[in-house]
Amino acid sequence: MFYLCTPIFIPNVVEKETIYILAIESSCDDTSAAVLCNDKVISNVVATQKIHEEYGGVVPELASRAHQQNIVPVVHQALTKANIDKKQLSAIAFTRGPGLMGSLLVGTSFAKSMALGLDIPLIEVNHMQAHILAHFISEKNCPKPDFPFLALTISGGHTQIILVKDYFDMKILGETLDDAVGEAYDKSGKILGLPYPGGPLVDTYAQLGNPKKFPFPRPKVNDLNFSFSGLKTSILYFIQRETQKDPDFIKKNLNDICASIQYTIVGILMDKLKKAVKQTDIKQIAIGGGVSANSGIRNALKNAEKNDKWSTYIPKFEYCTDNAAMIGIVGYYKYKGEMFSKQDISAKARYAI
Ligand code: KG4
Ligand code: ZN
Repeated sequence: MFYLCTPIFIPNVVEKETIYILAIESSCDDTSAAVLCNDKVISNVVATQKIHEEYGGVVPELASRAHQQNIVPVVHQALTKANIDKKQLSAIAFTRGPGLMGSLLVGTSFAKSMALGLDIPLIEVNHMQAHILAHFISEKNCPKPDFPFLALTISGGHTQIILVKDYFDMKILGETLDDAVGEAYDKSGKILGLPYPGGPLVDTYAQLGNPKKFPFPRPKVNDLNFSFSGLKTSILYFIQRETQKDPDFIKKNLNDICASIQYTIVGILMDKLKKAVKQTDIKQIAIGGGVSANSGIRNALKNAEKNDKWSTYIPKFEYCTDNAAMIGIVGYYKYKGEMFSKQDISAKARYAI
């Protein structure tokens, strides 16, 4: 399914040099292309691969095949919506990693050939840096964080706390040792019989339930790292035990179970975030990734703003989930710094920030 997230933007003030970046993202199960004019997004097209729903998770081989089918129409649509000709492009930015190898290869080879054909610079982008620099996309009423700040990236593939000192000076302070937080949500949803991805549904039911009804254990993980696999196992055993006693247990308690899961997960995230603030004395928090849509984490951040004087930043939701606009903003800053890539560059499934 294609959807255009951003209305067409016609720049009326032409900067000294107008930079047009075509950006391509294909690290997981979203094929996306965007066009940026300097730091503004003029189109951002995302083709979400529905095929994985019936498997309850992303199937890597199916993802790369779907990227192959989607990439040409998605790029074409991004250029058409932006109303620019490919000859106007200044550079092509693409996600080099981290991600699924087969998926990354599609975007990487496409970007390399297009840059070569147009004889314009090629710019490789680290997907995790892009989630953070998405905060620098120029948007009305969307203030940008000042350096240094802390970034919390929470999605189906990532859970990290990062110290961001500058655009390209970032340090991971903590990350998950096993499942990502979105995975914990989706696996909990699966245990409860909810369709994939379960995260948004668990959030919806959670808002109607009692968060303290079923206490789940919090993992004991050192430093600023996270672990979610133990929580998933304890939810599974709890549900198995209760449904043996009462087969209708889930149906009767769905809201309270979801609220209790959400309370535990948000508690884990906020504990670590508070610890990171204490360690660094930085109270500017920028969040990104699909789980930043979660009402529990949003409320917890609002409370921390009020009670602990934090400043929190959440980009527009379309720039939180996987999208090419965030790849484009990194492309823009790298273009300005002439941080170009050579044609022999290859995709990198494991790629540190
Ligand atoms: O960033 P994203 O679109 O893709 C990657 O995983 O990289 O994030 C998707 C994840 C899924 O695990 C989904 O269940 C979760 O974000 N998610 C949520 C909510 N909305 C999306 N989890 C909890 N509450 C939500 N409201
Ligand atoms: Zn991502």
